[in-house]
Amino acid sequence: MGQSLPMTSSITLTRPDDWHLHVRDGAAMAAVVPHTAAQFARAIIMPNLKPPVTTAAQAIAYRDRIRACVPAGLAFEPLMTLYLTDKLPPEEIRRAKAAGVVALKFYPAGATTNSDAGVTDIRKTYATLEAMQREGLLLLVHGEVTSPEVDLFDREAAFIDEQLIPLRRDFPGLKIVMEHITTREAAHYVRDAGPLTAATLTAHHLLYNRNAIFTGGIRPHYYCLPVLKRETHRLALVAAATSGHPNFFLGTDSAPHAAHLKEHAVGCAGCYTGFNAMELYAQAFDAAGALDKLEAFASFFGADFYGLPRNTGTLTLRREPLLVPEAFAYGEAQLKPLCAGETLAWKAA
Ligand code: DOR
Ligand code: ZN
Repeated sequence: MGQSLPMTSSITLTRPDDWHLHVRDGAAMAAVVPHTAAQFARAIIMPNLKPPVTTAAQAIAYRDRIRACVPAGLAFEPLMTLYLTDKLPPEEIRRAKAAGVVALKFYPAGATTNSDAGVTDIRKTYATLEAMQREGLLLLVHGEVTSPEVDLFDREAAFIDEQLIPLRRDFPGLKIVMEHITTREAAHYVRDAGPLTAATLTAHHLLYNRNAIFTGGIRPHYYCLPVLKRETHRLALVAAATSGHPNFFLGTDSAPHAAHLKEHAVGCAGCYTGFNAMELYAQAFDAAGALDKLEAFASFFGADFYGLPRNTGTLTLRREPLLVPEAFAYGEAQLKPLCAGETLAWKAA
């Protein structure tokens, strides 16, 4: 037997960014923004509020509300997005660009939480996509078809064939991010789709397969969309995240919901990972023997793809037990983080 290598006891990364985050609004937002701001320098803020963020003016006002929740002494910059609809006028794109909005989010209508106002037919948005391509705004895609005839577990692969490949062909100069990919098909598509197509990967899709939702009973805190897939897909996602390919980068998709609305007959989709995001990613990369690949994935590739400067500060993760709290206050309700009550192997300093 060979001698085992000494275990890494801490790693210091350039301060990371979260390229896909839900912070909600009001009291809920006040509960979650401090968690993200403690770990990340910037985050791409999803626009699926009720009603959705569809104008530059709304994005600016939302950004101000988020900034007001950042604790004193922490530097955190929300990067704003608009919600693409069938009717979003092309003229709004120039105003959005001037306001500092960096991207638009494409939800197929009905795909997920607050997506009723989403796109019913992507061709209806082509004039707006032309304007985005011209102004250099990114398109962030929730990549699932919504047809009830398509099996829930096949919706991402079907989306690539039916919608993403034509879209990629029709807008060769548009930067597209396939958000929170969950399948081998998506990982392979993005790997081979050229320099203007990227993907974000969540910590939960790197750590868990669909068994997690059903272990010993139904476990609603592991339910998100796109839903966790089988182990072969998880392994393909880990391979992509740890490959050093610059078009795969970190996006938590931390999606808080009140615990009672997840532990419900019709439970909401979303995992709350904002509290312990970097610890979860460290666990996934460590398990793959790829801690040396974490910094580029978490701190370089996303900024490079968005054309933004890399951060200058650092974040240190130590191999120390982190007992994850059972719940946080969430307005009048409770918010249960992923791995509530469990002890994780890494702890952010
Ligand atoms: O699980 C999810 N939750 N997936 C999404 O796409 C939306 C998100 C949310 O906003 O709750
Ligand atoms: Zn999301």
